[in-house]
Amino acid sequence: MFSPKLIASPDTLSNLAAVYGTPLYVYDSSMIRQRCQTLAAAFKGLPVKWLYAIKANDNPHVLKVIKDEGFGFDTVSFEEALLSLKIGQRPEKIFYTENNMTDEEMFAAVEAGVILNIGSYSRLEQFARLKNTRECSIRVNPQIGDGHHAKVDTGNRDSKFGIRLDLIPAAVEMAGEHGVKITGIHIHIGSGIQKPENLTQAMKVLLDIGRVLPDLKRINFGGGFPIPYKEGDAPFSITRFAEAASPLLKEELDRRGGDLVFHFEPGRWIVAPAGLLLTRVNTVKDQGRITFLGTDTGFNHLLRPAMYESYHAVVNVTRAGEEADKTYTIAGNICETGDILAEDRKLPETSNGELLALCDAGAYGMTMASNYNRRSVPSEVLIADDGTPKLIRERETAEAIVDRFLKESFFVK
Ligand SMILES: Cc1ncc(COP(=O)(O)O)c(C=O)c1O
Repeated sequence: MFSPKLIASPDTLSNLAAVYGTPLYVYDSSMIRQRCQTLAAAFKGLPVKWLYAIKANDNPHVLKVIKDEGFGFDTVSFEEALLSLKIGQRPEKIFYTENNMTDEEMFAAVEAGVILNIGSYSRLEQFARLKNTRECSIRVNPQIGDGHHAKVDTGNRDSKFGIRLDLIPAAVEMAGEHGVKITGIHIHIGSGIQKPENLTQAMKVLLDIGRVLPDLKRINFGGGFPIPYKEGDAPFSITRFAEAASPLLKEELDRRGGDLVFHFEPGRWIVAPAGLLLTRVNTVKDQGRITFLGTDTGFNHLLRPAMYESYHAVVNVTRAGEEADKTYTIAGNICETGDILAEDRKLPETSNGELLALCDAGAYGMTMASNYNRRSVPSEVLIADDGTPKLIRERETAEAIVDRFLKESFFVK
């Protein structure tokens, strides 16, 4: 996919880098919007409601674009739920898919009125015992997993996520004894699904479970829709997926007389290709067998290559259109050997000061960024629908980041 709309305007990218500096995340609002609309149109005539998994990119301005397209949010921490509320999302459109939630987080979520999606028997028991709770959703482990890497396969039977399949009847009964109805069931089998048929298979498992739950109002099939990162990767066809999944949904709807809503909650598919990370080369280093392009970013800004061996296409923006006849490895500025952003890439001959784009970085880029090596996280710019760029987060100066750190550490100078 290679962030097509952004890469098509190298002059715009160069200007943004000149104005806002690098490293800089750049997002394209119109592409995010258009992808939301593609999803919204996919399941014609069926009660499918879309959620966006905000863990993929939770910049408030990006959230606002997606919220304005009518999407609810899936959140995976109380902080994400709170952020959703604070940017104006309605509590009944916020799902909190918990994972080792604390009592305090549970109380706060109940108080906030968001929909709790509970992923363990023991947490369900604690929730059901609360005086003021009447209903919730539960996350099921369907024993079918998928994903672009073993670390993001969440649906396999050995993963930490979801209530064990054979425990579901007991869990529902236990909740019922406390007067709590299970009104929703949920799976999320993994991120970057490689075989869409695994998702439809897991959907069948969930639908089967749902058949014995009388109070069900919503069935959530999770996210995980992949995008092509590499040339030759087949794009995920939402149309084809909807064609395969629709008969399952229709059948269930008919069985229940229409009183049901279906959810999906993708993150990556919506935002990944609509964002890229701009970085400037400051060191060209021939190490004999490998020529490194050293950049002003690293795995503290884009963790995916180091964490999952993920591939992000790299473009030399300064030399857009020139012949890519040199081979480089793109290295980050973090003090670790593993801080390699891209290996053995063909680029035009590249010099210090030139601008590179790490493509398809709109998802799990900035949200996974950290201050490792005590460095700042990048600035972010959102290009509005009319083409106007807007700074939506500003990188801290070295002085500011160190002062904040000292203050947070209660260190008195
Ligand atoms: C519970 C849950 N839902 C949805 C998602 C979104 O996944 P993706 O960005 O691959 O669509 C995730 C991410 O792994 C998740 O943990």
